[in-house]
Amino acid sequence: MSRHFLSILDFSAEELGDTLALARRIKSERTLGPQAPTARALAGRHIGLLFEKPSLRTRVTFTIGVRELGAELVEIPADVMHADREPLVDVARNLERWIDAVVIRTFGQDRLLDFIDATPRLSVINALSNEEHPCQALADMQTLHERWDGRLEGRRIAFVGDGNNVCASLVHAAMMLGVSVHVATPTGYELPDEVVDQAAAVSQQGAGLTEFTDPQAAVRDVDAVYTDVWTSMGQEVEYAQRKRKFAAYQVNRSLMALAKNDAVFMHCLPAHRGEEVTDEVIESAASVVFDQAENRLHAQKAMLLKVLAGH
Ligand code: CP
Ligand code: NVA
Repeated sequence: MSRHFLSILDFSAEELGDTLALARRIKSERTLGPQAPTARALAGRHIGLLFEKPSLRTRVTFTIGVRELGAELVEIPADVMHADREPLVDVARNLERWIDAVVIRTFGQDRLLDFIDATPRLSVINALSNEEHPCQALADMQTLHERWDGRLEGRRIAFVGDGNNVCASLVHAAMMLGVSVHVATPTGYELPDEVVDQAAAVSQQGAGLTEFTDPQAAVRDVDAVYTDVWTSMGQEVEYAQRKRKFAAYQVNRSLMALAKNDAVFMHCLPAHRGEEVTDEVIESAASVVFDQAENRLHAQKAMLLKVLAGH
């Protein structure tokens, strides 16, 4: 049976730690180019990219990462997934005859599960679903590890905004690495109960998840403040309503001032400046958003090696 990466929860805490250590090594060895120890690690493998939503970072970093591991990339246009063309399970059953893994960005997580059920030989990687964004969380944890000199345990992050896919995967990864998370959302936009239960189940070293409706209370004395767009891809019809509901959840200078003096600002990007974050905060010295974007490359290469080559 193939391994998959649909969720951070597909890794044990130990595997997550190993993957992040490998990601750090891959980052430092990148200057070696074709001489890097992992440059041919996936030689002879074919990996498909199938994106049903827009992407800059995920698409570009998987494209480069697959090549830097010596594998072949296959770009699969999203229109093959239209239900009126053929059933999703038939797309899956064709792909497994030709390729080893497929990196999918889609809507419901159930579409990824349907893919897996139909294809015992194909590894499926979640490049963002409505519910989770595990590749983002790997890069986020790598970024914090760099900023905090390798000491994550006992730190606290506040996520301010929508209890969405990015928030869910951040919570999963943080809990498993001993980092506590405060999540501040408006009523009605909280994390799903399932994620709250999962957080409790995977928590290490006393890390806890605490939910707030007051963003000020959530960010007080934390080591990092994270936000994401208020309207995720697929929710565009709710834009005006969400903009009103989330207005008090903007990460601005006065909110950042409540966090620790050396707190970092995080965002998965794309950012809507003037909405969930001010220009001033995202451009400030505290902002690590482009480190997060860079680390997508290294963290995903490490994940692919773990999933496809058993590293
Ligand atoms: N953060 C992230 O996943 O960016 P893209 O949507 O551009 O891939
Ligand atoms: N929550 C956002 C993340 C984009 C990377 C979305 O799903 O659109």
